[in-house]
Amino acid sequence: MTFYITTPIYYVNDTPHIGHAYTTVIADTLTRFHRLFGEESFFLTGTDEHGQKVQSAAKSRQLDPQTHVDELVLQFQDIWKTLNIEPDFFIRTTMPFHKKVVQDCLQNLFEKGEIYTGEYEGWYSVSEEIFYTEDELVDGKSPIGKDVVKIKEKNYFFKMSAYQDRLIKHIEANPTFIQPDGKRSEVLGFLKKPLGDLCISRTKSRLNWGVEIPFDNDYVTYVWFDALLNYASGIGYRQAGKEDIFKKWWENCVHLIGKDILITHSVYWPTMLMALDVPLPKQIFAHGWWLTEGDKKMSKSEGPVVKPLDMKDIIGVDALRYFLVRDRNPGNDGLFSKDLVLTRVNSELANNFGNLLSRSLTLIGKFFEGKTPPLTENDPLTKELRITAEKLADEVKDSVNNLEANEAIGKVVELLTQTNRYVDKIEPWKTGKTDPAKAGECLRSVLEVLRISAILLSPVMPTKCFELLCRIGYNSKPTFIEAKMWGLLKTGTVVTAGEPLFPRV
Ligand code: MSP
Repeated sequence: MTFYITTPIYYVNDTPHIGHAYTTVIADTLTRFHRLFGEESFFLTGTDEHGQKVQSAAKSRQLDPQTHVDELVLQFQDIWKTLNIEPDFFIRTTMPFHKKVVQDCLQNLFEKGEIYTGEYEGWYSVSEEIFYTEDELVDGKSPIGKDVVKIKEKNYFFKMSAYQDRLIKHIEANPTFIQPDGKRSEVLGFLKKPLGDLCISRTKSRLNWGVEIPFDNDYVTYVWFDALLNYASGIGYRQAGKEDIFKKWWENCVHLIGKDILITHSVYWPTMLMALDVPLPKQIFAHGWWLTEGDKKMSKSEGPVVKPLDMKDIIGVDALRYFLVRDRNPGNDGLFSKDLVLTRVNSELANNFGNLLSRSLTLIGKFFEGKTPPLTENDPLTKELRITAEKLADEVKDSVNNLEANEAIGKVVELLTQTNRYVDKIEPWKTGKTDPAKAGECLRSVLEVLRISAILLSPVMPTKCFELLCRIGYNSKPTFIEAKMWGLLKTGTVVTAGEPLFPRV
């Protein structure tokens, strides 16, 4: 089984905010989880560098578009690197190989009669780069409230409407193709109305920053036609010698997207693939938005945004990754505020996970010369803890397979809470003096829980979990199988107390 996940490719009109970091951190975390499970995995992200938004952003900086994107892309790459996000490939739509794939597809569809010339008269939203019919406008604006202008011109159209029935059938026959279920219903609802054809050209007189249409050099292609193809070009589609690589990853492709781009991914993209005779991806998962105070989508056009690195400077990289993946069910919207971040990080990382580590290592230092006590199971509470801990890895895997990494983390947190309660009952700070065997059993069990938890949280917080594992004397590369096994630490190994792993903020 292979795992292939993509994020949207981000417009390089500005530097990324927390919303962009969210999708990318989740995709990185899921990839690391699948690698932990022993599956071959591929993670693709990148930047969408053509189109009106980028051209306008370059103009406002008085730069030519290429210079502008070359500068901004570095900021995306630097920020992702700082957040420990490690894509297997970072695609830029200005890369020559990608542009060639786009042109090949256009040519192929044109030759097959899937693209035709037509006269377009209607409304155009510059900021969304989408054409609307009169009927689709709401109070003279686009359905999401953006300004529109009237235009009339020759354009090229992709016969999207021809695939409407096939797409509906595919969605109905594959209930997990579009997730969550609410989004699936939304797309089916959208497809109840007749689907139009898709205008895939933009005249160079209005926009020249794009991939030139191979059969008419007065036009560039619509930015979405170019951008969506990144998911295929990024893994070798239409590149000589890479057919097998493409097939290997494509079969299990999951597109992680924000709900703002549901229709482009669930309607435009699958119909394009059908016309190109490429099988559809396995899943499109649309997550909710981070909202700012007043319940507005965090977005530069709506007001101040939180930058990932500002947050990282307050709580650290791993805690930020933890918060983003943990805080909410990916299908829902959620408020992003510094208070919520601090509350979550303090209660679950500092007071629960971190506290369990510090208290156990301190007591091992005090009563056992800082060495791992022997493994025993005389107390029924120890047995109970072991049984829960041994089941955890499979439960985490189930949640991750449903793209519910938040729930996976929640299960680890429950075990940590149970373990802190176990320590409170056994009171090793007292029994350490009166009944060292009992205290030793308790502290060794805590170390086993910490080991299992750190392995299972390592996809979310790679650096901190690795540090924790080293401190408890477990220096091998975390593996999933070892997360299912109790008692793997070596009795007598020296542990290192050190500073708190997650200081209270
Ligand atoms: N370039 C297109 C996508 C092309 S994909 C073939 C685009 N780019 S974007 O820069 O606007 O980024 C959109 C994505 O950023 C969203 O789909 C989502 O993944 C993420 N987010 C942007 N703002 C967000 C929030 N406030 N909350 C959560 N995620 C959001 O659209």
